[in-house]
Amino acid sequence: MEEIIKIASQDRKTQYESLVPQIHALISDEPDLIANMANICAAVKTTFNFLWVGFYLVKGQDLVLGPFQGPVACTRISTGKGVCGQAWEQKTSLIVPDVDQFPGHIACSSESKSEIVIPITACEDVIGVLDIDSDQLNDFSKLDEVYLTKIIDGLKKG
Ligand code: SME
Repeated sequence: MEEIIKIASQDRKTQYESLVPQIHALISDEPDLIANMANICAAVKTTFNFLWVGFYLVKGQDLVLGPFQGPVACTRISTGKGVCGQAWEQKTSLIVPDVDQFPGHIACSSESKSEIVIPITACEDVIGVLDIDSDQLNDFSKLDEVYLTKIIDGLKKG
């Protein structure tokens, strides 16, 4: 089997418009959550070349590192800690234009300048988060939130 994600480099909205259906096609026949998260990381990272793209999964009172692409990262984040822990606690997406201005930000890489975190919910419960770091300040907007949410909506969480 060969799966190739093809995205021409255009503006980000156009890239997402092309990427989202390709990712959904890639993950739609596979029930395994981890395998699908791994391919989402690869597809998003190779399309946009963000610094870090990964998932943390809720395990008890912690978020534990899941599939990711990029530099090594912290393995465990407690409820309410960092951007990821706050997105989990508040059950809401967070866009951080400048990580140095975010109280309690957990710096896994000194190269990270801005960040977006999107919670993944199943039956109202947060089961994990998608976390993306950029080495550019103010790299994320509502546009990213909308399309990344569409991407993770394709995950089968049961
Ligand atoms: N910056 C995150 C920690 C995870 S890394 O960015 C991969 C946070 O503050 O929760």
